[in-house]
Amino acid sequence: MTAGVHGKPRVPAKLGKLLSTGVVYPIMQAGMPGVADVELAAAVSRSGGIGTLGLQDVSVWEQSLRRMKALACGKPVNANLLLPYTRRKHIDGLLREQIPLVTLFWGEASKLTREFHQHGIFVFQQVGSVDEADRALDAGVDAIIAQGIEAGGHIRGTQRLAELLPRIAEHASSTPVFAAGGVYSADDVRRVVALGASGVSTGTMWIPMKPPGYTEVMPPVVPI
Ligand SMILES: Cc1cc2nc3c(=O)[nH]c(=O)nc-3n(C[C@H](O)[C@H](O)[C@H](O)COP(=O)(O)O)c2cc1C
Repeated sequence: MTAGVHGKPRVPAKLGKLLSTGVVYPIMQAGMPGVADVELAAAVSRSGGIGTLGLQDVSVWEQSLRRMKALACGKPVNANLLLPYTRRKHIDGLLREQIPLVTLFWGEASKLTREFHQHGIFVFQQVGSVDEADRALDAGVDAIIAQGIEAGGHIRGTQRLAELLPRIAEHASSTPVFAAGGVYSADDVRRVVALGASGVSTGTMWIPMKPPGYTEVMPPVVPI
């Protein structure tokens, strides 16, 4: 962000809607069930990033969302819906808890995007190909996460991020595109921004960050 008129920060147009939710840095800690817990997600959100809770069993899901939200002290938090394992109760739970951000992965987004928009929820969809990005854009998602084959965990695509990202960014025009897969440092962020990314989604690098009781965390990916 650079200084605009009267000293107000000039927000990149593509990120205006996301930043209006209270997100400060377009840096997402991806949902990683069993790896990233409620405390980590809340600490990332408190730090201005996008902390995400990965999908859990419905018996604990709503309680975890509530706790993440409480620990985030008013900062926006994100819920990841790995769609093949998502049940109606997961959706009802996040609506009841008024979770403001949702990431969809591995499935069709249109019906859910319509429903989430009725509740004012900002919708990301992680995709692994240009075709899938086109379908997500048709569905009206608010941001795309382009996942390269370098990514850890569930991998949707077959292309390297450096090949996939510019192609998706070109199709996405005014919709922001986040980059996922092998983004670990400020240099990596600069590299993906040069390829068309407006933000990053990061997974593997959080795995060692498991201190008992997170305080404010933000990894060295924030380009100063
Ligand atoms: C252990 C692990 C579990 C993951 N589980 C999920 C998941 O449940 N849902 C999802 O959308 N992405 C999941 N991902 C993928 C991330 O969303 C993201 O694409 C990836 O971590 C980015 O690459 P990186 O690990 O190199 O940062 C997972 C990643 C890891 C490392």
